[in-house]
Amino acid sequence: MNVLFLSPAFPAEMPAFVEGLAKVGAHVYGIGEQPEGALPERAKRALTAYKQVSGLFDTQSTVATVLDQLKKYGVTIDRVESPWEPTVELTAQLREALGVPGMGLEQATAFRDKEIMKQVLDGAGLRTPHHHRCNTTDQMRAAAEDVGFPLIVKPIAGAGSADTYRVNDAAELDNVIKLVGHVPEVSVEEFIEGEEFTFDTICANGEVLYYNIAWYRPRPLIARSLEWTSPQTMSLRDVDAPHLAPGKALGFNVLKALGFRDGYTHMEWFLTPRGEAVFGEIGARPPGARTVDVMNHACDADFHAGWASAVCYGTLGQSWERRYNAASIFKRAQGQGRIQRIEGLESLMHRYGRHIVAVELLPIGAPRRNWKQTLLSDGHLMVRHPDLSSCIEICDAVGTDLQLYAG
Ligand SMILES: Nc1ncnc2c1ncn2[C@@H]1O[C@H](COP(=O)(O)OP(=O)(O)O)[C@@H](O)[C@H]1O
Ligand SMILES: [Mg+2]
Repeated sequence: MNVLFLSPAFPAEMPAFVEGLAKVGAHVYGIGEQPEGALPERAKRALTAYKQVSGLFDTQSTVATVLDQLKKYGVTIDRVESPWEPTVELTAQLREALGVPGMGLEQATAFRDKEIMKQVLDGAGLRTPHHHRCNTTDQMRAAAEDVGFPLIVKPIAGAGSADTYRVNDAAELDNVIKLVGHVPEVSVEEFIEGEEFTFDTICANGEVLYYNIAWYRPRPLIARSLEWTSPQTMSLRDVDAPHLAPGKALGFNVLKALGFRDGYTHMEWFLTPRGEAVFGEIGARPPGARTVDVMNHACDADFHAGWASAVCYGTLGQSWERRYNAASIFKRAQGQGRIQRIEGLESLMHRYGRHIVAVELLPIGAPRRNWKQTLLSDGHLMVRHPDLSSCIEICDAVGTDLQLYAG
């Protein structure tokens, strides 16, 4: 089984997926923009070969380079994969160019363009926020007229809540119109109140082999607006809890409507105060910000290798069980500059050490990160507990009692 893998070195989560493929016996051929010498050790060890390209997203030249290399070395490719959102279309185009099975460009576009995505789902009778595609200021005003306030303005193909705004009235709309001036196309959407969850799957041959429901605390737009929050992504153990049933049903129906067959999906949905599930967005890729690690901790599983096995052989190739609620808690330092000190970790370890499964904070002296640009912020802890209220208690203690200071 020969797998062409896009961008094994970037972002930081990619090597785990390359390793997953190698673990299930695939030969992994990587292409990416980083020089071979700069590949992370884990990726290097798991790759069979690697080719640097100067502009990965220059589709024509990337396809030509790949074809040329395969011919030169007499390699045939059985799968083309990449778990990174911006490469979803390119991956599909490479599959088409190489005649490899898997999602093609038309279907991939429905996973990238947030308007096409919702049109398909509307056609299937699924509940999406009322929405409009807008290229001009006039279109944005007309859309606002139609959906009413509050509303959301966001890029058609966005990620990480970038350039996304809640707009409460006409004056705020004027302001946001200026702020999104550099975004070529936006969605204007009805604002949905409530809690936000994910519905993530690994599929093969159109069947869901595994799914995960995670709860975002707080909602991502709030987490991205308030620096002092410590955002949590909590993989829920009891996926049969009655309040999650509408979201789960929506998740399965969305996959059917989009005709998804193989690999990871990451859907986000809203649970309104009335208990209704409303579609948010879906990606043809795993959830980011180390959520696959959270899922692994929740189930004592390896969903990097499980994904690899699913895309190569159609099965997860392992047993797993939902044993825990598991969560990541991301921390943002106070102050600017380099990390000076970390407070509260010892006492948290003393109180909850058995339930803390990972501590990955920036070390003292490291420059703190731009919290608006990376969901990973200045580091994270991962915790797990069989009981939901105990998991919440530990997460919230990490949120309030652990502090990083920069200066
Ligand atoms: N229609 C909506 N109603 C309420 N909040 C929304 C809506 N659309 C987006 N948001 C908020 O903005 C965040 C980012 O939007 P999303 O569509 O998930 O884009 P991204 O690709 O940036 O994650 C969501 O997680 C949610 O908090
Ligand atoms: Mg999102």
